[in-house]
Amino acid sequence: MIRVAPSILSADFACLLQEVKRMELAGADWLHLDVMDGRFVPNITMGPLIVQALHGRVNLFLDVHLMVQNPEDFLNDFSQAGAQLLTVHAETCTHLHRIVQTIKKLGCKAGVALNPATPLTFLEYILQDLDLVLIMSVDPGFGGQDFIPGVLPKIKALAEEKRKRNLFFEIQVDGGINENTAAQAVKAGADILVAGSALFNAPEPEKIIKAIKMLPVREKYV
Ligand code: DX5
Ligand code: ZN
Repeated sequence: MIRVAPSILSADFACLLQEVKRMELAGADWLHLDVMDGRFVPNITMGPLIVQALHGRVNLFLDVHLMVQNPEDFLNDFSQAGAQLLTVHAETCTHLHRIVQTIKKLGCKAGVALNPATPLTFLEYILQDLDLVLIMSVDPGFGGQDFIPGVLPKIKALAEEKRKRNLFFEIQVDGGINENTAAQAVKAGADILVAGSALFNAPEPEKIIKAIKMLPVREKYV
């Protein structure tokens, strides 16, 4: 079944726990935390304190998306705070293999994200070590941007590669996801969808989450 990861970037931070509980009750599977440093992306958001504050208070898998330069400097702090998956951007990692191994040694799942214009070939020799590949469907930095349809062939090619090489990583898609774009991403091969504004701005997010989770998984990946 397709899994849904609400991004708290679009939550009302004045009542964050309530907002997250609303998503948990609505049927979310994961919780996506967008960490931005004002350097790799033109925005600053949250650090390990927010992960720590939510850890143990919600029954959702804590998925931390690190949109920061030098992510290796922060891996330990986020894992100590309770992160279960740490996703770094390939564009920020000179020594990606070492960073992926460090994440695993810390006891977290390891993910690598690619910006819309970054080719899949960046990951060719490390795919077998990854738990997750995050295909960005917007340029990271802000919630509420429009899905870039040009990434659909990239999702498809990644899903084909996974099947051909019999690999186990999951494919996550993040940016501009709503019911329509979710259907396109899932058709291309996505397993986990991140959605921020579409869920937190919805009066009935459970309807959207249910619709996304019911999307048919591509046959060959069932
Ligand atoms: C973008 C973030 C996304 C963002 C998604 O930089 O990585 O996770 O919060 O927000 P929506 O779903 O509104 O595009
Ligand atoms: Zn994200």
